[in-house]
Amino acid sequence: MQHKQVRCSTGWKSSGTGVRECLHVAAASQSIRVAIMNHFGKFMLLLVLAFVAIQYVAISTFLTNPLSLLYSVVVVPTRQAVNCSPETLSYTSSAPAFSPPTNDSNVRTHILILATTRCGSSFIGQLLNQHPEVFYLFEPLFHVHSMLRPHLEQSRDLDWRKTLMGAARDLLRSLYHCHLSSLENYIQPYPTNHSTDHLFRRGASQSLCSPPVCKVPQGPHEQSLVLNDERECKKRCGPLSMPLASDACRAKRHTAIKTVRIPQISDLRTLIEDPTLNLKVIQLVRDPRGILASRIEAFRDSYRMWRLWRATGRRPANLDLGQIRTLCEDVLKSVSIGLARPDWLKGRYMLLRYEDMARFPLKKTKELYRFLGLDLDQSVKDWINNNTHDSSGVSSRRKFTTIRDSAANAENWKTKLSFDMVVYIQSACKPLLQRLGYKAVFHSRELKNFSHSLVEDRMFLPFF
Ligand SMILES: *[C@@H]1O[C@H](CO)[C@@H](O)[C@H](O)[C@H]1NC(C)=O
Ligand SMILES: *[C@@H]1O[C@H](CO)[C@@H](O)[C@H](O)[C@H]1NC(C)=O
Ligand SMILES: *[C@@H]1O[C@H](CO)[C@@H](O)[C@H](O)[C@H]1NC(C)=O
Ligand SMILES: *[C@@H]1O[C@H](CO)[C@@H](O)[C@H](O)[C@H]1NC(C)=O
Repeated sequence: MQHKQVRCSTGWKSSGTGVRECLHVAAASQSIRVAIMNHFGKFMLLLVLAFVAIQYVAISTFLTNPLSLLYSVVVVPTRQAVNCSPETLSYTSSAPAFSPPTNDSNVRTHILILATTRCGSSFIGQLLNQHPEVFYLFEPLFHVHSMLRPHLEQSRDLDWRKTLMGAARDLLRSLYHCHLSSLENYIQPYPTNHSTDHLFRRGASQSLCSPPVCKVPQGPHEQSLVLNDERECKKRCGPLSMPLASDACRAKRHTAIKTVRIPQISDLRTLIEDPTLNLKVIQLVRDPRGILASRIEAFRDSYRMWRLWRATGRRPANLDLGQIRTLCEDVLKSVSIGLARPDWLKGRYMLLRYEDMARFPLKKTKELYRFLGLDLDQSVKDWINNNTHDSSGVSSRRKFTTIRDSAANAENWKTKLSFDMVVYIQSACKPLLQRLGYKAVFHSRELKNFSHSLVEDRMFLPFF
């Protein structure tokens, strides 16, 4: 498929053929890439615009569709219209309320791993990254957040989260259509010649570390080095060419993106309902007590107060429970929507508990692939075997020796939190614990008893 890029006055515009595209161009105000807005709807938005200009360019070509529409440039001034959803492109009346999912392996499947930090999402990402027909991107929204979020937060725009999500959705849509160049606008420093050394965690993606995207000629030894060590990929593969990465994306049958930067499934609704996408969401959840224990280790600064609590045995007066509370609320909302099985999620939603994946990696991976309608490739099974001591079954309990802490023993948080801390989180996250089948503890004896699992056996079947 042809892919060309045209320099336009307001930034990069990408055009392809055959698919409806919805591209956005965002630029920081200090740069010359300031986008021009037609009219300013709201005062609040003006504040945002003082820092950031976001221009949404929607180009639409429905060559095969009788509805044939061609949008040249749509500049969207209001927050409501911040995503190029079908509504804003005004052909909703004839579009179906939701598009039935496809289970045909010839149809491109777009996969989103919806997770929060420290719940094993890198591991789940690898289960897709290892598949030879999957183009995998690790946290592309990192760039959107780092560029926009500081400006949006300062702007006193109370709805900054919505604005951010609008930009995030548009980028995701572009990426699923393999327009990786849309990412360039968010990468700092700005890529020269459509190449960059600064794509966040490029090395986590096989496709971006394999030829021809990886430009250095490789023998089998180098190849395996580069694929198994992120740093080697960054070191040896040379600058990442976005056009080449886009080609690599198009050459694969499916695209998978992992993100911890979408708070709720409702933030994804317009993408899920987008008839040009075949989006399937895997929501990965974990016991919030386990998440907290892991974050205390990983993010020492922001969880300093919790460390203090653990060290002294006394809860600091200024401890901020906000982050954990928000986490639990967001996850609860998403899970409640997902498990209520609304029409728009039919065939598109699967809830996965990290603890189940840790205990039964092969079994859960099979379920995952069945839900996606993809063949479980041998390379994925090999990877599981190499990175867990599993085959399947109960005997694999607590044998999860992966390369990353995130996939380590699912219940070892019990040794890392004091009983007081556990009680405190339980009070903030009670409804979520109940919903997901995580048992509360009421006595420190229960916490220290390792034959007492706090994970109820529950089946969360994919919503077909
Ligand atoms: C940009 O790419 C072109 C063609 O690949 C090359 O001729 C040119 O030297 C490059 N410029 C820079 C600054 O790298
Ligand atoms: C999708 O296809 C797979 C493999 O052919 C099959 O096992 C699965 O049951 C199908 N799912 C649905 C919902 O039809
Ligand atoms: C699994 O390990 C074997 C032996 O170390 C290695 O040859 C193979 O490439 C590995 N496979 C994967 C998918 O990691
Ligand atoms: C530990 O938990 C197991 C299983 O729930 C229970 O049978 C046992 O009595 C508990 N031991 C103690 C010391 O509480």
